[in-house]
Amino acid sequence: MRKLYVIGIGSGNPEHITIEAIRTMNLVDVFFVMSKGEAKSDLVRLRKDICERYIDKTSYRTIEVVDPERDPSIASYVSRVEVWHEQRTLIWEALIENELKEDQCGAILVWGDPALYDSTLRVIDRLTARNKICFEYEVIPGITSVQALAARHKIMLNGIGESIHITTGRQLSTDLVHDLKNVVVMLDGECAFEQAFDKDVEIYWGAYVGTDKEILLSGKLIEKMESIKAIRQAARVKNGWIMDIYLLRNSASR
Ligand SMILES: C[S@@+](CC[C@H](N)C(=O)[O-])C[C@H]1O[C@@H](n2cnc3c(N)ncnc32)[C@H](O)[C@@H]1O
Repeated sequence: MRKLYVIGIGSGNPEHITIEAIRTMNLVDVFFVMSKGEAKSDLVRLRKDICERYIDKTSYRTIEVVDPERDPSIASYVSRVEVWHEQRTLIWEALIENELKEDQCGAILVWGDPALYDSTLRVIDRLTARNKICFEYEVIPGITSVQALAARHKIMLNGIGESIHITTGRQLSTDLVHDLKNVVVMLDGECAFEQAFDKDVEIYWGAYVGTDKEILLSGKLIEKMESIKAIRQAARVKNGWIMDIYLLRNSASR
């Protein structure tokens, strides 16, 4: 039977890949790489570098597929993402059917860990529900950008016995985060920390964490907010893309 591995590769540092991931990558016949256009070609390059660095055999193939764009004319965010997942499902179905022989293994290299803000496992659920192609799959965990951020700032994510809330920039203003002590924010294209928070909290911010473009900044949100906005904007212009993540912490919490 065909087999598909969903492999977490860490979030930018090629040395964050696990031994399990390396061992699995060496079993793979075909790597499917989603590309998101020229601006994010760094992310495709990192995946290819990881393959070259860690795979001993030379007989594997890499197939690059252009990721469909989300349709901006669909007003509802959830519907927009669902339509996008369906488009991805049809692409994956065709790829598995046409590019993998019955006894071969394919792999999708997922940024960070597949369980955190990534659509791959949802797409696989859809594929399984359609029941058109038969395959088994396995998930290999990776180091998330949350862990990478904490390690680079040399911080704990929680105070003693406290919980940690992980959310998105989009949700930050609507979540009841004001009472929470430790909030990790991902997928924030709009600097949501500006409007959403008590300015007395501390921020631990990182962009391109783990890569050679890494930028880290921390301190009182009220003091660092403008610098982060300016640095973020300049980096996005310079590199053509940006990925950043931050922890907001109530300063009473340690
Ligand atoms: C689609 S999510 C993918 C998350 C990924 N699955 C993980 O485990 O970290 C992309 C978001 O993750 C965060 N992210 C991923 N890699 C990052 C990095 N190297 N530096 C900073 N943020 C990163 C950013 O918030 C970005 O908007």
